[in-house]
Amino acid sequence: MHLNLGLLNKLNTLTLRNLYWQMSRRLAAITGIQGYVPDYVLTNAELEKMVDTNDEWITTRTGIKERRILKEPGKAASDMGKIIVEKLLKKTSTNPDDVELVIFATVTGDMVFPDTANIVCDKVGIKNAFAFDIRAACSGFLFALTTGAKFIEAGTHKKVIVIGCDMMSSIIDYTDRATCIIFGDGGGAVLLEPCEDGTGIIDSEFHGDGSGAKYLHMKAGGSLKPASLETVTAKEHYVYQEGKAVFKSAINGMVDTIKKVCKNNNLQLEDIDWLVPHQANIRIINGVADALGFDINKVMINIQKYGNTTSGTLPLCLWEWEPKLKKGDNIILTAFGGGFTWGSTYLKWSL
Ligand code: UT7
Repeated sequence: MHLNLGLLNKLNTLTLRNLYWQMSRRLAAITGIQGYVPDYVLTNAELEKMVDTNDEWITTRTGIKERRILKEPGKAASDMGKIIVEKLLKKTSTNPDDVELVIFATVTGDMVFPDTANIVCDKVGIKNAFAFDIRAACSGFLFALTTGAKFIEAGTHKKVIVIGCDMMSSIIDYTDRATCIIFGDGGGAVLLEPCEDGTGIIDSEFHGDGSGAKYLHMKAGGSLKPASLETVTAKEHYVYQEGKAVFKSAINGMVDTIKKVCKNNNLQLEDIDWLVPHQANIRIINGVADALGFDINKVMINIQKYGNTTSGTLPLCLWEWEPKLKKGDNIILTAFGGGFTWGSTYLKWSL
């Protein structure tokens, strides 16, 4: 009896401690959001003139009507990053000298190295930050967001910028109808700062599975197959995708991690104000909502305008929906992509 009471007391103390920790936990809040897409609009009609496709196929199979392309010669991912970060700093009245960390999620960095985050810092005049890239394909922004949040939660950093942006047009073969109709250029960034009012990035559920690499990758340009005349002639510096295999895993991966993150945080589906899915295919987005039984009107969808911008889709959605978001809104971000990489993040909107 004495032992059981002791155990009970101990459990209660632990539960209380856990509760106290959750309540007093310093979270990383999104205190600014900015997006950007280049001006050039590549329509389905224009693609019809480039490859054997048609608007009807693209619309019904993917939901995409148009995508943006960075056309100016000599421009790269860092140029989009520069525009995004400059606007973000202005919008949040942030002094570049106060930014301590910049993380850039992208698979289309300016060069193999150095990391594009450093180039963006230089272009913007951020001098006191350390900076690095995260290359997790379509899950890149989610992984980068949680990584940035951890520096805030640890108490070591107070202003972190997380960018998710891709110039997919630089790695797409515009003679391959299976891929060129899907991808576009653009992205966005958030400013993360400490917050103790219970809003911010609360929890994430992430996964990876390298056995999926065979379905979605770029064959050459890495250490396995360095660039050569042969690799360029064989068009191995473009995206290779076996769409059907990716499609099937994408729905399951997103649904499973949304359910897990809900369970871990005692969230019912009706508690979620917005679901923000990676924009890869409207049928995948609908499939996720259907599998969960989630109201499609609370799902952010802009794939029709921008296509799949890889690391850029999630910040682009948050940026577009910002006027509709209210402080305290429960938001779940979810993504699946090359790697395979996938996961979901739960946050309470702070603005
Ligand atoms: O964000 C990173 C993660 N990526 C994804 O989540 C992408 C997941 N996959 C997909 O979104 C879809 O698989 C695609 C949109 C890529 C392709 O759609 P699908 O319904 O899986 O089509 P499919 O590849 O099975 O092709 C069906 C047919 C084929 O013709 P046959 O063999 O049935 O005669 C293709 O050749 O459609 C043909 N096809 C096209 N027809 C007109 C493929 N692309 C096109 C096209 N226009 N652009």
